[in-house]
Amino acid sequence: MNAQMSAALKSEAAAAALKEVRNGMRLGIGSGSTVNELIKLLAKEVAAGLDIIGVPASEASAQLCNQLGVPLTTLDETPELDLCIDGADEIANELALIKGGGAALLREKIIATASARMVVIADRSKVVDTLGKFPLPIEVVQFGLGATRVKLEQHLKTNGLSGELVLRGGAEAPVVTDNGNFIIDAHLGTIPDPEAFAKGLNDIPGVVENGLFINLAMRAYVAGDDRVEIIER
Ligand code: 5RP
Repeated sequence: MNAQMSAALKSEAAAAALKEVRNGMRLGIGSGSTVNELIKLLAKEVAAGLDIIGVPASEASAQLCNQLGVPLTTLDETPELDLCIDGADEIANELALIKGGGAALLREKIIATASARMVVIADRSKVVDTLGKFPLPIEVVQFGLGATRVKLEQHLKTNGLSGELVLRGGAEAPVVTDNGNFIIDAHLGTIPDPEAFAKGLNDIPGVVENGLFINLAMRAYVAGDDRVEIIER
């Protein structure tokens, strides 16, 4: 799929989800290239009179919203949201997701959890039978990285999984999230039981959040070549 086609599909998924947005809504705005398409469409609606207030999941989303005139607030001012629209890296059965390809998973999960409903926008390439081909992003604090990695390896073993744990960006230039943390990408290949694997993962001191979003999304708008499919949980 070339970049132009891919952007068109992302925009179609975003346009379908935008139909859920009503006047007066408090909107969680996720992060990533699909959400960027949403922000562009949202900005047009706002210019035409749509009255919403958004909470962005990343500095990048905030910047684009500010640039295009989408009004923003914070979860401190507006702790409960009506709807959150976000992208995903993988979408499996029951709308179990891997997110965090853009390193925004922590804020994305906080926003999704603060929202009455989460809907996902994606192109068809994100739909999988089993999660895990996309490396699972895990946000960790910078302090004690080596020790956290050892505990993560033990967690993999306990769950019958194996795979490389890769510091995103490498030791020379690690990626730093909007929250000042690092990302470890767990290259697992497959996560047959995401719910079981997620259990206890965040209990490891040093782990801030993981990119498994389970029982959060209610609906996904998935754009394919001929139509936007709606997947419900
Ligand atoms: C960022 C995310 C994104 O939603 C995810 O990576 C999908 O991004 P894109 O729409 O660019 O494919 O989780 O942390």
